[in-house]
Amino acid sequence: MLLGRVKPLDAILATAEKQSLTRTLGAWQLTLLGVGAIIGTGIFVLTSEAAQKAGPGMMWSFVIAAAVCGVAALCYSELASMVPVAGSAYTYTYAVMGELLAWMVGWALILEYAVAASAVSVGWSGYFIGLLQSWGITLPTALSVGPYAGGIVNLPALVIALLITGLLMIGTTESARVNAVLVAIKVTALTAFIALTLPVAQGAEFEPFTPNGWFGESSGFGVVGAAASIFFAYVGFDAVSTAAEETKNPQRNVPIGLIGSLAICTIFYLLVAAGAIGTIGSQPITTEAGGLLAPGTPEFAARCQDFMAMGQEPLVCSREALAHVLREIGYERLGDLIGIAAFLALPSVILIMLFGQTRIFFVMARDGLLPEKLASIHPKWKTPHIVTMITGVAVAFFAAFLPVGQLADISNSGTLFAFFMVALAVLILRRAQPDRPRPFKTPLVWIVAPLAMLGTLGLFWNLPFDAKMVLPIWGGIGLVVYFAYSRRMSHVGRGIIEVHEDDPDAPPHPVPPIGDAHTPGGKDA
Ligand code: ALA
Repeated sequence: MLLGRVKPLDAILATAEKQSLTRTLGAWQLTLLGVGAIIGTGIFVLTSEAAQKAGPGMMWSFVIAAAVCGVAALCYSELASMVPVAGSAYTYTYAVMGELLAWMVGWALILEYAVAASAVSVGWSGYFIGLLQSWGITLPTALSVGPYAGGIVNLPALVIALLITGLLMIGTTESARVNAVLVAIKVTALTAFIALTLPVAQGAEFEPFTPNGWFGESSGFGVVGAAASIFFAYVGFDAVSTAAEETKNPQRNVPIGLIGSLAICTIFYLLVAAGAIGTIGSQPITTEAGGLLAPGTPEFAARCQDFMAMGQEPLVCSREALAHVLREIGYERLGDLIGIAAFLALPSVILIMLFGQTRIFFVMARDGLLPEKLASIHPKWKTPHIVTMITGVAVAFFAAFLPVGQLADISNSGTLFAFFMVALAVLILRRAQPDRPRPFKTPLVWIVAPLAMLGTLGLFWNLPFDAKMVLPIWGGIGLVVYFAYSRRMSHVGRGIIEVHEDDPDAPPHPVPPIGDAHTPGGKDA
């Protein structure tokens, strides 16, 4: 049967036990890991996109996106505590819904992680260019934005993506200590922003509150349209669950890390949004006739130029939203400092996203669904250098030519699909294996999981049309690859016994032989 090829949970757990990722992370480090992966381009850059789509109503957008992530995180927690192994949504789906859907989830996670890395690279570029400008250096437009805004190539975004790829190839992973420092920088920057803006915020700036309504005239606009985009600001909390295999007492610590990091970020985002809106306003700009303008389009860029020519730069036009707000209210130097904070901290988000991507590839290759060669480990660097390089080049390419908002939306489409599948997997597993121990149980699962599914569907539906279309197209390509290659090569399908056991430089172990794996509790999923 097409959907019948399930990888039993016990086999997954056995594989993980044989793998020697050491369990070193505690609850606090995991929360920091989450906050480190979450705070990034979303709040630093996409705040202006959300404003263009929803106006001050973007406050609700942040709440809606957080609520969807919250219920999804509760579902993630149950699976992550039951199956504390690398691979996240891909692994859970493999165990619960079979190989084909797992493949589709893994394939969608490529969109999530790789395209998110591109988006953050572009976000970083906006701050870098702004900083250069404040130091009197102006990069020509041709080299600072892609064709969507009248340029040719976003050179800084391209360079940072390749640089991070190089670091990952030679084996740089962010140490917990570096992550803690960067989280401190981001949190300090956001706290300073809040402290400087909220006291001078004006109630009048919040009117009209929802200039584009709740759903907008076309998909991608209005409060809910902005929520679908700003969802990106929360992406990354699932990085916590991908670290489950390296976590001490994952049953307790993973849920704390997931929910804790999400809660901290939500509070920060709401306060930052209120500060930005209350000081310089966040009304969308329109065509001269008063029509909607989608951010990241040539028309939008041209209209922003009109405003610049009049000596104004509305929030929605800024590529470095938070620094811009501070400069506008008279804190030039502090605006630069926020810029420096983003300059320093955003690359770590790129690193985490790219790293997450290589991990997903790694696990998929461990299962035989992708060529093992692709995930082969460099003899000296001990990294999956080939897959890292291929991913990095693709990430750099997209960063060079596409606008940040569009990249974020595309990434969201993949993420929303993965979250949907995780929520579904929780429900199926509750039915199929009710007695399996669940160290963390999603509370009110028959309400929470369907809410997560509805929420992810709703947000997906409200993405701009183009971003929505990427998922089925990408999925179609995925199906071709699956039936042309992966299905035949699958270790579960072939019942392969592990290889290269004694060779330290060999690719990671595939799953144990299928015969051993058919243990009670696994076979009926
Ligand atoms: N949430 C991450 C960011 O906003 C991906 O950059």
